[in-house]
Amino acid sequence: MQTTLQGREHSLSPVGILWLKLAVLYLIVGVVLGIAMGASEDFTLRPVHAHVNLLGWATMAVAGLVYSVFPWAASSRLATLHFWLTNLALPVMTISLTLLLVGKRAVIPVLAVSEIVATLGLVCFALNIFLNLKKG
Ligand code: HEM
Repeated sequence: MQTTLQGREHSLSPVGILWLKLAVLYLIVGVVLGIAMGASEDFTLRPVHAHVNLLGWATMAVAGLVYSVFPWAASSRLATLHFWLTNLALPVMTISLTLLLVGKRAVIPVLAVSEIVATLGLVCFALNIFLNLKKG
């Protein structure tokens, strides 16, 4: 998609837009959980709320903005790996952390694997920024 920003041709990355749309879904889940915790005065799931908001909303929204500003970085292999590792790991991590906090310790191996996969996704993001972020 092409648009003009202050007289300059700017290419909007569909990947960046997709990241932003997914991020805002996490924001809704995160704030609904925050309201539910406040209303029930049960803060057991506080770490889930924090991770959904900070990894799901904030970190993914920043990725969406980075890929929108630097669309050529969004088409790299590292960007594809970043996308799939993050978006497969985060839902599993959210659900398994929730289960752990309500006492289901059997999910610890699943949680550990999802955390490692999420970290690998962020490593791909970091490498992509170092290797592919340059002036277009
Ligand atoms: C309407 C929106 C939100 C509501 C109703 C809400 C509600 C809450 C509540 C009730 C707590 C627990 C406070 C306590 O234990 O004393 C909390 C903690 C927290 N919230 Fe939110 N929150 C909202 C949005 C956000 C957003 C957007 C972020 C981050 C981008 C965020 C990050 C955190 C963090 C980091 C904690 C601390 C977690 C911990 O101590 O383990 N919250 N929030």
